[in-house]
Amino acid sequence: MTTIKQLSNHEDEIVTLNGWIYNSRSSKGLHFLEVRDGTGLCQCIVSEQEVSEEVFEAAGTLKQESSLSISGKVIKDDRSVGGYELHATDLKVYQVAENYPITPKDHGVEFLMENRHLWLRSQRQWAAMQVRNTIIFSIHQFFQGEGFIQMDAPVFTGNAAEGTTTLFETDYFDEKAYLTQSGQLYAEAMAMAHGKVYTFGPTFRAEKSKTRRHLTEFWMIEPEMAFYDLEMNMELAEKMLKFIITSVLEKHDAELEILERDTSFLKKAAAEPFKKISYTEAVDQLKSDETAAVLDQMEEDRETEQKEIKQELKEIKKEHGSAKKWRKAQIDERIKEIHSRIDQIDEDLRNIPVWKESAANFEWGNDFGGSDETILTMQYDTPVMVHRYPAAVKAFYMKRDPEDDKLALALDVLAPEGYGEIIGGSEREESLDVLLDRIKAHDLPEEAFDWYLDLRKYGSVPHSGYGLGLERTVSWVCGLTHVRETIPFPRMLGRLRP
Ligand code: 4AD
Ligand code: MG
Repeated sequence: MTTIKQLSNHEDEIVTLNGWIYNSRSSKGLHFLEVRDGTGLCQCIVSEQEVSEEVFEAAGTLKQESSLSISGKVIKDDRSVGGYELHATDLKVYQVAENYPITPKDHGVEFLMENRHLWLRSQRQWAAMQVRNTIIFSIHQFFQGEGFIQMDAPVFTGNAAEGTTTLFETDYFDEKAYLTQSGQLYAEAMAMAHGKVYTFGPTFRAEKSKTRRHLTEFWMIEPEMAFYDLEMNMELAEKMLKFIITSVLEKHDAELEILERDTSFLKKAAAEPFKKISYTEAVDQLKSDETAAVLDQMEEDRETEQKEIKQELKEIKKEHGSAKKWRKAQIDERIKEIHSRIDQIDEDLRNIPVWKESAANFEWGNDFGGSDETILTMQYDTPVMVHRYPAAVKAFYMKRDPEDDKLALALDVLAPEGYGEIIGGSEREESLDVLLDRIKAHDLPEEAFDWYLDLRKYGSVPHSGYGLGLERTVSWVCGLTHVRETIPFPRMLGRLRP
């Protein structure tokens, strides 16, 4: 047995592939089976003249997602998906599938989400998970290479690390426990034992809003480093992101093409230094005439595009009636594309006036909302590192800026192209007394933090860390608009199955 990914090593040899039918069509004396095997797609040609009668007949019965073993000769063909074809010599059917619910025709997102367990087999979903895997692997490679120790934080916890409004409460043998929002507090303890550590685990937030950025269960990578200040923290975050992007670019030409990702942004992010701006500078930018002009331009562009695309729709619909069969199929495909683009444009056109208003009226001291981050990062090609936020909108553990007590030594990394926050972090408060005050000020139960406060009693040191949201990172790298497609089985408000 071999895999589609390895076909280039077997040119002109007879090999066997195990997989599923992705698509099939027949013409006189030939069946064209597009087979997927989890590593790629390959067109397999079953010719009446090359195989036995039974095999030829069996090949004709194979509906979408039927499972099979197929043998044949590997032929190089640049026009073929993946660059190789298989000229079949034999075939074994495992199962002729029932009518598969996900067909190439247009399905709504709700339907696809209900069928997530099957949707995962589709090309785009497959490509996104391949990239996700590389991102996960590259994160481990990066931190291990930098001398970090991976350590796990618990999932059941008595501590609220990131505010009390998004806690999932559970019953822990008659005691109240929460699903962790972040492994950070534990990572701080582990960093005092090992110097440089990172956690990699699931985290939970009871996010009651439906946005394209929020899951209730997501994976976070949280490095924590003793003797690191905010500057060193930022440097590490940039180096890590560049490493991740470079790894994806090295491995995933084909997948990024399936995802129709414009890789020029990723190449820039891998090569060019990230911009660093303070929160105050970011606010100024948000309220600037330039930002207003960018939004005006965007509105104008969308309106023009809408007109053009609606005109095209009219014309191809007219053509459809008298078109040949192959052309009809082409037109259907294009109509689908146009409809989804029109939906996107409508959404943008509804949003832009709201964005304009919220950007112009943004007040220093507020946290950035999703739309503020969208507007800000639309104006960047590479990630932007925003530092020194108002302490009032940030977590209790963040150290204040010695030069301005209103500010926290916080860091958010915002992905460009409208994506927004993918990393949140800070330098940590290391003084016991200050931390006690903050816990009181944030109305947090002091008893729950007794162990955490110990870290400030026994050899307290300056230290820093951050959390990278895996799904948001996958979303940006793949150019996906919604985080629901970046995790195998997303958990969101109103979604607990499959
Ligand atoms: O900014 P956050 O809340 O930071 C922390 O939890 C810190 N304790 C991390 C640290 O310093 N060790 O979350 C970090 C990242 C965000 O930037 C975002 O990428 C992701 O986690 N994130 C979410 N991703 C998906 N759905 C949600 N509901 C998310 N909330 C945060
Ligand atoms: Mg944050």
